[in-house]
Amino acid sequence: MSEGEPRRVLVIIPTYDERDTLPEALRRLRAAVPEADVLVVDDASPDGTGEVADAAAADDAAIHVLHRPGKDGLGRAYVEGFGWALSRGYATVVEMDADGSHRPEDLPRLLARASRSDRPDLVLGSRWVPGGRVVNWPSHRQLLSRGGNAWVRLALGVTVHDATGGYRVFRAETLRGLPLAEIESQGYCFQVDMVWRVERAGGRVVEVPITFVERAEGRSKMSRAIVAEALWRTTAWGVARRAGQLGALARRLARRRRPAGGRR
Ligand code: GDD
Ligand code: MN
Repeated sequence: MSEGEPRRVLVIIPTYDERDTLPEALRRLRAAVPEADVLVVDDASPDGTGEVADAAAADDAAIHVLHRPGKDGLGRAYVEGFGWALSRGYATVVEMDADGSHRPEDLPRLLARASRSDRPDLVLGSRWVPGGRVVNWPSHRQLLSRGGNAWVRLALGVTVHDATGGYRVFRAETLRGLPLAEIESQGYCFQVDMVWRVERAGGRVVEVPITFVERAEGRSKMSRAIVAEALWRTTAWGVARRAGQLGALARRLARRRRPAGGRR
């Protein structure tokens, strides 16, 4: 970033049937972080969220809308949003849900952490670190989230405590360094996919505690299919990772048995 250039932040909000939640989320976000631009990525929501977003954009030049032809998953919506952000030169890209669960008032704290001098590649708003909380989440969702996080730490060696959360701040360079076009995760396992990719690339990921407040309006789009995709993909990644580790071990042992000089 050259001197005098504003610190450009884009907040991406994916939406599917969020007409009752989006306006309030946008209002709070614009109040909490007025310098940030916003991109709503709507998957042709049957409830008309796309038109609600267009109306907000018509009133506020900082709000933009990307219309996709149909419901194609959170992961793909974000990948398209990332492309939009990178092609427009934003320095910082934020992920945020539309339903108010990610409190816009917490964003200044996440952004401040992202611009600290140790320059993290990815800042996660985290429910499962000291100081983090969830409010009004039924126990089965808490169990799913905690279980999912325990699983990905074990299977993938992910080091963070909330790899499934969706309130995050990426540096644009972090996104530029990832093969976004290769990402296959369609649903919520996209979040794990991204953290894991950043960690494997040697990136620095830091967690900042947040309070996640379950939505008051509308419905969660979490489904059995989304859980199933997360489970099979993370298992496949975990198996591939272990196979890679075994292969490396086998090669190391083979080298030890047959040293270069052929001495036995
Ligand atoms: N464009 C688009 N396309 N948006 C979607 C789609 C889709 O197919 N599916 C969900 N969304 C949007 C929702 O409209 C909402 O803004 C956001 O993604 C999160 O969806 P919710 O349905 O509210 O998710 P949740 O509260 O159950 O999910 C929690 O778990 C997720 C997975 O770990 C939150 O913690 C999320 O932050 C997290 O990603
Ligand atoms: Mn939600």
